[in-house]
Amino acid sequence: MNKNPANKSDSNISYGKLLLSIEIIDEQHSKINELFDKMVEVSEHKNYKSRLVIFDELDEYLKYHFETEENLMRSAGTIDIEKHIQQHDFFRNRLIEIRKLDQYNSKYLTDLSVNLRVSLLRKWITSHFRDFDSLYVDSVKQYLATTGNKK
Ligand SMILES: [Fe+2]
Ligand SMILES: [Fe+2]
Repeated sequence: MNKNPANKSDSNISYGKLLLSIEIIDEQHSKINELFDKMVEVSEHKNYKSRLVIFDELDEYLKYHFETEENLMRSAGTIDIEKHIQQHDFFRNRLIEIRKLDQYNSKYLTDLSVNLRVSLLRKWITSHFRDFDSLYVDSVKQYLATTGNKK
């Protein structure tokens, strides 16, 4: 049995069901999922230097993804986006915090502790796709249709 709490089966809330049918967003969500998988893989091999690199990749990609969504929501006039943006900021701050813990406190932190934190963050983000990103689908689709963009 896989002991890593961030492994795919534990954290992946049936990923296939989370498709929003907005191509650009589904692609980005899938990439985020892949980066978390990569993180699990290097952790299993205790490859800590690579793990830090993936933290950076994930941080950069989340920034890019959240900006994409926030721009789309603004253009589409989606209501109530402030709460949504607050969650994005929260996730990025948590990620940076875990990376720092991993980098500077590795003497005191067990591997399990880093994996648990990553696993929890992954669950939050996956739930966010389902519970928050799904809220902008109608308005963003309408907006994209008016621009002739089928993404
Ligand atoms: Fe998203
Ligand atoms: Fe979002």
